[in-house]
Amino acid sequence: MPVDRLAFTRTLSRVPAPVTVTTTADASGRRWGFTGSSFCSLSLDPPLVLICLDKGASTHGAFTAAPHFLVNVLAHDQGDVALRFATSGVDRFQAGDMTPCELGLPGLPGAAARIACATHEILDGGDHSILVGRVEETRAGDRPPLVYSDRAFGRPVPNDRLATAR
Ligand SMILES: Cc1cc2nc3c(=O)[nH]c(=O)nc-3n(C[C@H](O)[C@H](O)[C@H](O)COP(=O)(O)O)c2cc1C
Repeated sequence: MPVDRLAFTRTLSRVPAPVTVTTTADASGRRWGFTGSSFCSLSLDPPLVLICLDKGASTHGAFTAAPHFLVNVLAHDQGDVALRFATSGVDRFQAGDMTPCELGLPGLPGAAARIACATHEILDGGDHSILVGRVEETRAGDRPPLVYSDRAFGRPVPNDRLATAR
């Protein structure tokens, strides 16, 4: 029996996810970016990460052709940036908060982390493409990340009673 679409999305909304803005630039220098919560680490050796991009997105052609991309992991107070980079038909870079960062790609100075990648492989993932990136440069900030769960933005709440795995 096929899974009910509503039940599927409601159930998956219970899974906390990071919020990223992934950027690239094309051969003409035009900047591209989209908000994505489907980011995760994939492999340590070689260092790989992945993010999934809707095949129907306006940015799909640019990202599947790009040799590099930069994942900006948003900080807890960057929900407005997440919404802007998820909005269709606007200039997402007009606010001027992106500056050239790792590999010269557009980055957010206040991001919780940035991960610069060479495009390693583009895999098929149903209605999404899976962009597999080979990590070339990383920057870990010290600001708490933004978390997306139950269709709302929040920030992680540390539980002092539990030991942390580092
Ligand atoms: C919190 C959040 C997470 C999102 N995660 C993804 C994602 O992982 N992959 C994706 O393709 N779109 C994701 N989107 C939607 C895109 O940001 C964007 O709205 C969509 O690609 C349509 O953009 P377009 O106008 O470029 O076609 C997310 C949106 C929000 C608000």
